[in-house]
Amino acid sequence: MQTMITPQQTAQTEAFGSEVLRNDAASVAVKSLAPANRSAVSAERGGAMLSIVVPTFNERGNVHALVAELGRVLDGLEWEVIFVDDDSPDGTAGLVRELAREHARVRCVQRIGRRGLSSACVEGMLASSAPYLAVMDGDLQHDPAVLPRMLELMRDPQVEIVVGSRYVAGGSPEGLSSWRLAVSRFATWMGSAVVPRDLHDPMSGFFLVRRSLLEETVRDLSGMGFKILLDIVASARRPVGLREVPFVFRTRVAGESKLDSLVAWEYGMLVADKLLGRYVPVRFLAFAAIGAVGVGVHLGLLTIAYRMEHLPFVTSQAMAAAITMVFNYWLNNALTYRDQRRRGWKWLGGLASFMAVCSVGAVANVGVAAYLFGQRTQWLLAAIAGVVVGAVWNYAVSSVYTWGRPKA
Ligand code: GDD
Ligand code: MN
Repeated sequence: MQTMITPQQTAQTEAFGSEVLRNDAASVAVKSLAPANRSAVSAERGGAMLSIVVPTFNERGNVHALVAELGRVLDGLEWEVIFVDDDSPDGTAGLVRELAREHARVRCVQRIGRRGLSSACVEGMLASSAPYLAVMDGDLQHDPAVLPRMLELMRDPQVEIVVGSRYVAGGSPEGLSSWRLAVSRFATWMGSAVVPRDLHDPMSGFFLVRRSLLEETVRDLSGMGFKILLDIVASARRPVGLREVPFVFRTRVAGESKLDSLVAWEYGMLVADKLLGRYVPVRFLAFAAIGAVGVGVHLGLLTIAYRMEHLPFVTSQAMAAAITMVFNYWLNNALTYRDQRRRGWKWLGGLASFMAVCSVGAVANVGVAAYLFGQRTQWLLAAIAGVVVGAVWNYAVSSVYTWGRPKA
């Protein structure tokens, strides 16, 4: 089973294992317990030094092969793998637990009613106590054989994060289609607004991070979308000790990619959040932008109903307002609250609550504008104040009542 690693690698791994991995926080903690309690707590084996967090959604066909590969390349190290599964319909979580009953190194975190690659990674890392945390995909597109090399670089105490990069010499995005490659390169360029230049592959979903860096940044993470690496590095707001290791992004064999055409939107939201999130919630910006588009839709509908179809003005205005609310709800549900999207019957329930919230918002809007206008405020200013109050109300209340708990 040792055939995957060269003797030289084995030697390195062993040296690493004895010098760093065995000197772990877990054994320090156990030593600090009163002697009488020690034996009760301390197991034969200490806690894992390296946790590999693997987000999964419908990866049943890949779990066994991944665990087997990890076992081969990490032989001799104290490692564990934590699968974080978002209740995959294909039963990935059940399969992982089956394996976990046989192999103590395998663990499963199952999330119900949630989706999201980034948040899955964060929760997996928080479920671990290991001082070194790796994140990798569960579809074998990331080569586990790179992990020992990543650990090796961590021997330098200055290094806080090691990134598996497709864009440095020796690495390659082989498994990406040419369209995905173009998108990926564009997104990389955009990301350079928030991450250091020496990070060549901020989109990578394959990296190893020191627990201290996670703990420093975890409360500032946006947790949106799928770019957990970029999120961590941008949230540090200081230069982080960074290294890159080239790797070849392999072609997916079993299952299919979950990242659809809207990843670009999610990515834009993440970059905007890192740039502006300190000043204003990026969801509010998206909500306001969609609201502005809604004004255009409303005026278009009004023109059709009132000017072209000659319906009464009030009827036309009411119809335009109702349809615009549906339009705004649909877009906000698909984009602003993509991660908390309502589907099926819940979509309709959400629509009802959204329309109720916005109706109150409209009353607030007109009320504030009328009051200011009565106080001799210039009409345009009064109107804008009304719109702002209405929009803030709609955003704040719908984020709670329509889409559930907002992110703190
Ligand atoms: N828990 C959870 N929840 N896991 C998810 C979700 C989710 O909502 N969506 C995807 N995953 C898991 C998949 O099961 C897989 O293990 C991993 O996340 C990556 O998802 P893929 O669907 O295979 O992504 P990809 O191959 O298209 O994209 C990969 O390459 C990109 C670079 O081009 C990922 O590594 C991206 O992070 C990376 O940016
Ligand atoms: Mn993949």
